[in-house]
Amino acid sequence: MTFKEVVNSRRAINFFDPEKSVSKEDLKSILEMAAKAPSSFNLQPWSVMVIDGKEDKETLRKLAWNQPKITEAPLTLIVLADQDGWKEGHPFVEKNFQEMIKSGTMQEAQREWFKGAREGLYGSTPERKLAFAVKNAAFFAMTLMLAAKSLGIETHPMDGFDMDKVKQAFKIPDTYWVPLLIAVGYFKKGETLMPAKWRKSPEELIVRFD
Ligand SMILES: Cc1cc2nc3c(=O)[nH]c(=O)nc-3n(C[C@H](O)[C@H](O)[C@H](O)COP(=O)(O)O)c2cc1C
Repeated sequence: MTFKEVVNSRRAINFFDPEKSVSKEDLKSILEMAAKAPSSFNLQPWSVMVIDGKEDKETLRKLAWNQPKITEAPLTLIVLADQDGWKEGHPFVEKNFQEMIKSGTMQEAQREWFKGAREGLYGSTPERKLAFAVKNAAFFAMTLMLAAKSLGIETHPMDGFDMDKVKQAFKIPDTYWVPLLIAVGYFKKGETLMPAKWRKSPEELIVRFD
């Protein structure tokens, strides 16, 4: 598939084949491709929980408007956005810093500058912390859905769920925001997909405020 075909054929699929699982190799490949998404300072403040057990899927479905796709799809991902993913001392922030030193794009002497830049951009208000986490995780989630489609695997993003209850049920620490769930699997043969939805035109997308 060309990139255009991937983009044009991706749909939020309502009917998953419960008999067809996503292989470990395909899931790995989807995650590897999704991880290529860009992020602020390459901080990658995202991760996923893979919900594929019968009981866990039933629990999640009850907390997500009882959406049948959660139990029908072989797996649903809980996308996590780490609101602390910019803080000094965070293991991945440190890993990122060390990787930049290794690649020669940062020096140990710049540690304080880098810390100050992150704190100023992301740490000054709760809104900024949340925006940092969620905007980056959204790029990851979109890349993930396109990556799945490129392998012939369908997805369905969902924000119809009770985040506090999902966090409680799956013991997700407070520092994470859950921007969305993504059901992943194969389209159930014999079902009919809803017609493609309208989109804003390029003219409608470009705006000015003067
Ligand atoms: C962040 C996000 C949350 C969504 N939440 C739900 C949801 O909870 N339930 C649902 O049926 N569809 C949900 N959708 C799917 C949208 O309705 C769908 O993507 C949109 O109508 C466009 O259709 P398409 O993806 O097939 O092109 C969500 C989509 C996004 C991006």
